[in-house]
Amino acid sequence: MLTLSGVNKTFYPGTPNERRALVDVGLEMAEGDFVTIIGSNGAGKSTLLNVIAGSIPADQGSIRINDRDVTKLSEHRRAAAISRVFQDPSAGTSPHLTIEQNLAVALTRGQRHTLSRGLTRARRKQFREELATLEQGLENRMTHRVGLLSGGQRQALSLLMASFTKPTVLLLDEHTAALDPERAELVLRLTQNVIADHRLTALMVTHNMEHALRLGNRLVMMHEGRIIRTLDPESKASSQVSDLLDMFGDAKDSLSDRTLLSS
Ligand SMILES: Nc1ncnc2c1ncn2[C@@H]1O[C@H](COP(=O)(O)OP(=O)(O)OP(=O)(O)O)[C@@H](O)[C@H]1O
Ligand SMILES: [Mg+2]
Repeated sequence: MLTLSGVNKTFYPGTPNERRALVDVGLEMAEGDFVTIIGSNGAGKSTLLNVIAGSIPADQGSIRINDRDVTKLSEHRRAAAISRVFQDPSAGTSPHLTIEQNLAVALTRGQRHTLSRGLTRARRKQFREELATLEQGLENRMTHRVGLLSGGQRQALSLLMASFTKPTVLLLDEHTAALDPERAELVLRLTQNVIADHRLTALMVTHNMEHALRLGNRLVMMHEGRIIRTLDPESKASSQVSDLLDMFGDAKDSLSDRTLLSS
């Protein structure tokens, strides 16, 4: 379904600033897999998602989505298969457009022949129903500009928009990190619902180990550009945060930034 093999990415190669962001990364995901990714700052988590999305080209290795080699395809050409939600609530939506305009734009994203973005009565009805599932009352604010919404509401909207194109893969990069604990919980719940309702294959980066254990069916640990450990559904289900810290310690003898990981 999604297969990465031998993926390498080095920034500024051959210079004093050389950064090996991805080192021989391999990952095989089946349809419906939901992988959570943890690792310290600079471990390569965002680079991994960027390479999957095509916003950064891999130096070596291959990426296949549904048996199609997309390694050389531009980000734009992959857009129909991949949706993303970022940490910054302002990244996924257009603040100057209304909620319904944002949704209409999202609906046509990734389509080769852009359909009318017009807001027909039927489309508004569909949007209202979809928005109601977010339980934020946004279905009654469809003509409000998105810039007026709270961060949590914008992330909820971003998630809904990300599901619109029926992507094969959903990439979430610390998408709850900028939210207060209550909003983060809400957006996590919506995340689970959207993934289940649309039967998406998903990768979610988080620094919150408890979230990484609670969501998804598999877990990947990264350190210094490498996947240092993968937990299958059984071991993930039976692991605690303290186990994850122990595993990190085992995989990397002197992991100096445990506090960062658990924050
Ligand atoms: N566009 C870029 N140009 C140059 N270096 C980059 C770029 N993106 C990432 N890097 C470097 O690659 C390494 C991995 O960065 P990456 O952003 O993937 O880490 P991360 O695991 O997402 O970290 P964080 O938890 O802080 O978000 C880092 O050393 C970073 O400085
Ligand atoms: Mg990152």
